[in-house]
Amino acid sequence: MRYDIEEKEVKWAENIFNLIEKKLSAECDRIGSQMPYIPVEGHYHDMGKEHLTWWTNSFWAGMLWQMYYATKEGKYADSAIGLENRLDRALEEYDHLDHDLGFMWLHTAVAHFRLLKDEEAKRKGLHAAAILASRFQPAGNYFRAWNTPGESVAIVDCLMNLPLLYWGSEESGNPAWKQLAMAHADMALEVILRPDGSSNHIVKFHQETGEILEKPGGQGYGEGSSWTRGLSWAIYGMALSYKYTGKQEYLDAAKRTAHYFIANAAADDYDVVIDFRAPMEPVYYDNTAAVCAACGLLELSEHVGEYEKRLYTVPALRLLHKVTERFCNWNVEEDGITTAGSARYHREEDREVPIIYGDYFLLEAVLRLLNRDFLIW
Ligand code: GLY
Repeated sequence: MRYDIEEKEVKWAENIFNLIEKKLSAECDRIGSQMPYIPVEGHYHDMGKEHLTWWTNSFWAGMLWQMYYATKEGKYADSAIGLENRLDRALEEYDHLDHDLGFMWLHTAVAHFRLLKDEEAKRKGLHAAAILASRFQPAGNYFRAWNTPGESVAIVDCLMNLPLLYWGSEESGNPAWKQLAMAHADMALEVILRPDGSSNHIVKFHQETGEILEKPGGQGYGEGSSWTRGLSWAIYGMALSYKYTGKQEYLDAAKRTAHYFIANAAADDYDVVIDFRAPMEPVYYDNTAAVCAACGLLELSEHVGEYEKRLYTVPALRLLHKVTERFCNWNVEEDGITTAGSARYHREEDREVPIIYGDYFLLEAVLRLLNRDFLIW
């Protein structure tokens, strides 16, 4: 068995998948190829009309491809391809794109190519990889995250974009892309992740010399704090870099971050807050961190020895049980499944709301447990 879990957990995952399927089938009929983000009063609006290059615009396509793979129902593939085509114009908007090309094209064109061998989709994926590669900064060895004039930062989130380059390297035969991805992962080991298993969100570099100028708090509570979604990106991202390269330091880093995450989550009975180093009150949850960490822990469990796997699968299940017991909306008339996701700590409208990537990672985790998932990353 891929995950060493009890039969009753498989049954539980089947029940949750049945609920998810009812909900996503209705959402697919309602929204088709729109680009959902945060529903307002139970309904998504189309981010593609407002902000085509927004980093979350492809998670819905990733969900559609997962559903297509799991159910073989054509409507999911049709809507995913429709979304991918809408995104074509974004590939031409070089000045508006940031480093999140992985989040945007792994879930669309690359998934399409991997599942249906569509050559045009492969070309789009390689184009996206080339744009990401062009953001590499040799002074500092990192992919520049955003385009703020006069400023250059690397962020922990980018670990999830690196698989676009690992895939692109294999498909194009260009080893440089994999080497750049590894240079960025090595930089993250050195200056983003901390030795105690926690992580910075942002590292600001001098643009000319690569000297480190600052490590601001970013979307977490503040400088030196411990933003939980960033930790989940680190667990999953480092496990993926290990998968594609076999470099032991990446696996060790994924484990260190996982141990830190699990210890903190367990202290609160697996309710995950936005930041593990923030005041006890007020309590702000972030279930996107919980479900993304669960996927990262499941991926990690696939790369460790037989007697180590449960260290990661058991907490992954605890996180998923908690989210589905307390924080899911199963009403098929309303959009969005996971509730209480938080995009950032210090903005009220971004706290404790349903967010599309929470739903993506819940779906991926449940399909993983059923061995019906498809690796988007
Ligand atoms: N990648 C941005 C975020 O996690 O909010």
